[in-house]
Amino acid sequence: MLRLVGLDLIIFSILLILHRISADKISYAGYSVVEATPKNNDELTWLESDSPCSVLGEWVGNGVGLLCSRLEANLLRQQAKNRGIKTTFSTRHLGRQIDKEEEQNSRADLIQPHKRQKKRILTHEEFVNYATIQHYLDSLQELYPYVNVSSIGKSIEGRDLKLVTINGGRNLPKIFIDAGIHAREWISPASTLFFIDKLTKVLKRQKTHSTKTTGRRSLTDEIEWHIVPLMNPDGYEHSRNKDRMWRKNRRVNPNSNCVGVDLNRNFPEGYGIGSSTRACSEVFQGPNPLSEPESIALNNHIEQTSGIRAAVSVHSFGNVLIFPWGYTETAHPQKAALSELANVISDTIYQKYEERYKPGTAKEVFGSWGVAGGATDDYYITKGIPYSFTFELPQTDSAGNHGFLLPPSNIKKVGNQLFLGFMTLAGQVLKS
Ligand code: ARG
Ligand code: ZN
Repeated sequence: MLRLVGLDLIIFSILLILHRISADKISYAGYSVVEATPKNNDELTWLESDSPCSVLGEWVGNGVGLLCSRLEANLLRQQAKNRGIKTTFSTRHLGRQIDKEEEQNSRADLIQPHKRQKKRILTHEEFVNYATIQHYLDSLQELYPYVNVSSIGKSIEGRDLKLVTINGGRNLPKIFIDAGIHAREWISPASTLFFIDKLTKVLKRQKTHSTKTTGRRSLTDEIEWHIVPLMNPDGYEHSRNKDRMWRKNRRVNPNSNCVGVDLNRNFPEGYGIGSSTRACSEVFQGPNPLSEPESIALNNHIEQTSGIRAAVSVHSFGNVLIFPWGYTETAHPQKAALSELANVISDTIYQKYEERYKPGTAKEVFGSWGVAGGATDDYYITKGIPYSFTFELPQTDSAGNHGFLLPPSNIKKVGNQLFLGFMTLAGQVLKS
């Protein structure tokens, strides 16, 4: 027995090394993420176009995240200082953090087959790959009669965009959830899969003790849940295997060396605002709205599904709960109702988990640079869905600030927060 364990360990180590070599990843050794706080459009433009670093995204509270090598970081900080722009380090040693995370995850991928035999495909203790996610989703259909797993379409590289439908065929009000539109936001699909796992298990328990109809029961059982846990599988795999900081899909852009369209800048509402026409930008909007197979698939599903009462997009990071409009500073006609519900969801989560998701519009929570169109939240509400939100999940835990690299030890915690948030949303949907 002992010898077997030893042999296992040796094989495991060899596989781990092979895995790392074959991965051929972009190295972020010596790189940092720097946050800059531009005060006006000129300063923002300078950061985006002329500064030594490249923009990663908008940060909460008027900040902009930039990716810099050591040399670039020094240059940026000096030049920004001269221009009166404040900078701080968000992640000083990005490369080291990625290495640490990778070690945990390649181990998880290799260990996974053993756990599969024990019928636990997901343990929610590590970030699993596309194949394992597919395997898990397919297993749901076999395990639970009230779960249906289908596909809303395929990604540009041909991966399945799986839809989990729970409590279908009973003409219930529907809640739609999408996760993983942005590749590097691993906590989004992971915590959404935890939510699915918890919901299906809670339903099973309730259905086997079906005599007492508790309030809880109606929340889980009186909603038809539609969940796409991995909207950008190509980008997700790319961020696992090649480039940890990848955001977009994997569209090969004509006449450009840069790959990818930002799927959350590719929807029709406010298209072109807060996005870029340059293929190399992190927020490249694509040649036209709904130009990508992923956004087309989502659009088709939404258009073909009647009775969706609320839609939520799950992103990271920022600890905020955003509601429309996101692409304009004009108040949405339903702003009061959206804001009230966002506040209730936020307070409910805070009371139980002491995790604060600040409610507000993109402008209110991100500041001026967060005003951006083409995102799902604005799209959903113009499709006649009464409530639409974007969750930005946490970047910090008790060990510190991790940005996009929130460790997998947070999956269950954040997943439980989502569960409570979605149940609070369900309560409102069933009331109205
Ligand atoms: N982080 C998200 C993104 O960049 C925020 C989307 C907020 N919604 C909006 N309509 N701007 O896509
Ligand atoms: Zn995102």
